[in-house]
Amino acid sequence: MQRLNLQFELIRQSPTVSMGDRIMALQASGKNIVALQMGDPDFGTPPAVLDVAFKAMQSGLTHYAPSRGFLELRKAVATKLLRDEGVEYNPETEILITHGGIHAYYLAMQSILNPDDDVLIPDPSWATHANMATMLRGNVIRVPAPAENNFIPYFEAWQKALTAKTKIIVLNYPSNPTGMFPSKEYLQKLQDFAKENNLWIVADEVYGSLFFDEKPTSVAAFDGAKERTLLVNSLSKSYAMTGWRVGYLAAPQAVIENAIKAGQNSITCVAPFIQKAAAFALTDSAIQEETAKMRAGYKRRRDLVIRLSHELESEKVKIIEPKGAFYFFLDLRSLNMPSVEMCEKILEEYGVGLVPGSAFGKEGEGFIRLCIAASDEDVESGFRKIVAWAEKQ
Ligand SMILES: Cc1ncc(COP(=O)(O)O)c(C=O)c1O
Repeated sequence: MQRLNLQFELIRQSPTVSMGDRIMALQASGKNIVALQMGDPDFGTPPAVLDVAFKAMQSGLTHYAPSRGFLELRKAVATKLLRDEGVEYNPETEILITHGGIHAYYLAMQSILNPDDDVLIPDPSWATHANMATMLRGNVIRVPAPAENNFIPYFEAWQKALTAKTKIIVLNYPSNPTGMFPSKEYLQKLQDFAKENNLWIVADEVYGSLFFDEKPTSVAAFDGAKERTLLVNSLSKSYAMTGWRVGYLAAPQAVIENAIKAGQNSITCVAPFIQKAAAFALTDSAIQEETAKMRAGYKRRRDLVIRLSHELESEKVKIIEPKGAFYFFLDLRSLNMPSVEMCEKILEEYGVGLVPGSAFGKEGEGFIRLCIAASDEDVESGFRKIVAWAEKQ
């Protein structure tokens, strides 16, 4: 057999997806599992959004759509970015509609990354950020984001990681898996650092609307930031639309022109009826109220875990209170056990599905990710079971 693409030897299959597959197999065999591994909202997509998609299909929007995305949807994205983030984008030239946030990230990286460029990525972070950079033949340099600093890299760590080949910083706030985001002052400093060193910043803000108290500032919302920032976002998490596969990239025009070529040569376009539904979801005021209720639901569950943690007072399972997204990155380092083993044991012995922290990088070892996009009952029983298991070790 002729040789395969060697880059794939450098990456592993997604541990979240393989954990999900295992759990589904266990469920199919009749086992009762508290599934807290998958970052997928337990809320349904708002029914009014479904109606718009049905009507669009019935009206004949079942053929190809423009590869840049309908102008109506690009305008809706621009409205959202101005309304929620205070950043102005030109819908004609600076926005591209994509097949979800993951595809927006792919197009962003493909548009700017050359083989052998250095890419700085905090550790821990969502595995795709590093995997994609590797697939595109970049050199991934992880920047430690330790629990002791609320999972935000110490600023010196960025300086230490910088080389003559550094081209891109990848950020994801609020973060998967930690739910953390830095202060506005920190982001301003990072933007200054990027400017001084002529770096791009790719900012994955798919959890940008999911915050509990203080609102995170968009990485693009700083003077002069837009010219070096590529914003990745989607409707998946904030509108409970993970299965619709619709997102967007907002970036300088030259980047968008590359990304369009990459999109045309990979997916052609996003389905037109889905684009119609997305434009409605982003701008309709009743839908914004529904998403605010979802956010309140995640906050209630976050507070529930915090309350339980105070009640149970476990020395073995420590929490670091997340500020957004829908995850807890639980600290079980005192057990001195690989996080993969911990997750396997908790699944087998207590029937709770989780993701090992090592899936997010070396710094994630000793942690496990608990997703709170599940019912209050599941979140409570899941957390109690994790503590019960840990206390027995
Ligand atoms: C940080 C982060 N970015 C992007 C995505 C992908 O989102 P989408 O469903 O919009 O492709 C995820 C999904 O889990 C994520 O956690």
